[in-house]
Amino acid sequence: MKKLLVTGGAGFIGVNFVHYTVKNKPEYEITVLDNLTYAGEEHNLDPVKGKVKFVKGDITDAELVNSLVADCDVVVHFAAESHNDNSLSNPWPFVHTNLIGTYTILEAVRKYSKRLHHISTDEVYGDLEIGSPERFTEDTPYNPSSPYSSTKAGSDLLVRAWVRSFGVEATISNCSNNYGPYQHIEKFIPRQITNVLSGNKPKLYGSGEQVRDWIHVDDHNSAVHVIIEKGKIGETYLIGASGEKNNKDVVETILETMDKPKDDYEHVADRPGHDARYGIDSSKLQTELGWKPKYTDFKAGLADTIAWYQENEWWWKPCKDKVENRYKKQGQ
Ligand code: NAD
Ligand code: DAU
Repeated sequence: MKKLLVTGGAGFIGVNFVHYTVKNKPEYEITVLDNLTYAGEEHNLDPVKGKVKFVKGDITDAELVNSLVADCDVVVHFAAESHNDNSLSNPWPFVHTNLIGTYTILEAVRKYSKRLHHISTDEVYGDLEIGSPERFTEDTPYNPSSPYSSTKAGSDLLVRAWVRSFGVEATISNCSNNYGPYQHIEKFIPRQITNVLSGNKPKLYGSGEQVRDWIHVDDHNSAVHVIIEKGKIGETYLIGASGEKNNKDVVETILETMDKPKDDYEHVADRPGHDARYGIDSSKLQTELGWKPKYTDFKAGLADTIAWYQENEWWWKPCKDKVENRYKKQGQ
């Protein structure tokens, strides 16, 4: 058995990673470290209860992090403040968790000589022109736009420095926009699904022409396993499944799938500094490590995600009003 320490394992991608690992990789014994911010819920781990150890704690708590890292083989570091809009209204938690938290993890894996995989985002590369054929590669220069993406960029650079200066055994992956079950309803796709389920109109920021490169969360997580198993220390791998779509098309697909008129949405205030387009070239991961995405039919993956929110109203309903009131104050 190999011992995995999963930070942020009660949030969206982390909890899907834990579920995926329990189901498909029985060789791993898992401990989750998560301080349960507004974005993490311990009950997300109920489907794997008894199979996973949960520790409630902060990744900036060096003593706790050291004791957990000392007792594991591999750290998979998902924990972060993850929402761009929140980083615009209050950047401090982003600086604290994404930078100081990652620093704390790095010092622990350095001290105990443990393998680290750092989870990051394509947003570190800034944005691309809408309609251009260009896509991000591992060589694209860093050019983050928001407090969120700049703290993620900073965390990646810390990892790179700890590899080069201290010989820490780490890999990094930068993934595009994930969708799937357990995603917080502040995010684009679940916000619109739960708006329709609540009898409200989906809300498009600005023109709605911005493009995101959608990937199913299980494809992200299968790629993370491939990198943990076969990735080269010190390397960065981009994860994406060629799922570029503009926001308007995504909203229309949600409405059609939910049997509503496809123009039944409204435009709201744009996000300041809104990135125009993300697009990932994942050839390095595919050719060097042999990874392939499974969910290549976005409409089918989206229909499954809609069904999950329909069947799990208990999961999202309690925070819907709070999320919408916050957006309302921002004109969104
Ligand atoms: P999320 O906000 O849903 O979950 C984050 C989790 O981290 C939560 O459970 C939260 O409680 C926990 N956490 C936050 N601060 C913590 C702290 N100080 N100590 C311990 N735990 C803490 O985020 P997500 O969407 O699941 O993203 C996970 C990771 O993947 C992040 O690193 C994010 O940058 C990256 N990422 C996300 C996407 C995406 O589309 N959501 C795409 C690419 C990369
Ligand atoms: O690219 C990876 C990143 O994807 C991750 O690093 C982030 O953690 C994750 O939150 C996501 O960032 P985005 O800012 O792209 O995701 P978000 O869901 O907030 O918004 C997706 C797009 O939809 C974006 O262009 C803004 C737009 N949007 C968002 C909301 C919440 C709307 O049009 N209406 C909305 O109500």
